[in-house]
Amino acid sequence: MSIYTLAISGSSGVPYTRRVLQQLLLSEHEIKVVVSDAGRKVLEVEEGILLDNKLENTYDTLLAWSEVNKPKGSLEIYNSKDVSAPIASGSYPVTGMAIVPCSGGTIGRVANGISNGLIERAADVCLKERKRLIIVPREMPISLVHLKNMTSITEAGGIILPASPGFYHKPKSISDLVDTVAGRILSLLGFENKLLKPWLGVNKGE
Ligand SMILES: Cc1cc2nc3c(=O)[nH]c(=O)nc-3n(C[C@H](O)[C@H](O)[C@H](O)COP(=O)(O)O)c2cc1C
Repeated sequence: MSIYTLAISGSSGVPYTRRVLQQLLLSEHEIKVVVSDAGRKVLEVEEGILLDNKLENTYDTLLAWSEVNKPKGSLEIYNSKDVSAPIASGSYPVTGMAIVPCSGGTIGRVANGISNGLIERAADVCLKERKRLIIVPREMPISLVHLKNMTSITEAGGIILPASPGFYHKPKSISDLVDTVAGRILSLLGFENKLLKPWLGVNKGE
């Protein structure tokens, strides 16, 4: 049994989060979710999802959004300001964490160890404990500030996985494109999944 943290910060790209969350909830693992205030705003704008401050309501809303009736393992949601949550401690046995999508702001704070919220602190813990940390930025263009911050995170052991879907599998829908990114996130987290289709060569494996 593994423990995965999925954080949602205020960047565009929550359809990727939805697919990742769905796959995690269909597994027997323990899933921990944290949403930043700006992440809530993006969920509202992009998906029409309204998360209120009651964590039990957020639970139901996230399950409905990810089209999962009941998690096969477990789902726990933490307030993004609750730095006393278990995932804020290196003693808690988290397997890995993904921030999907990851805003430039959150990247900057993680890169510089500014752990003033639960997302940044949980990411900080993954870096110091040498646990898998997958950061999924969605920004364009990217400034030197972003590049330097992403370099710092990479040097500290994190993985920068830009939300840039591939087209070589000839996607037929937005969902196909989303899956090329979601599959890579899950695989790099060490989570077995069928979304990631390996490239087998031209005209093979389609
Ligand atoms: C609808 C919407 C889309 C946004 N898209 C992005 C984005 O793609 N990338 C980004 O870095 N910031 C984006 N932002 C700005 C961030 O949400 C903002 O910088 C925020 O302070 C980040 O907070 P957080 O890192 O705590 O989640 C967006 C904001 C909104 C409301």
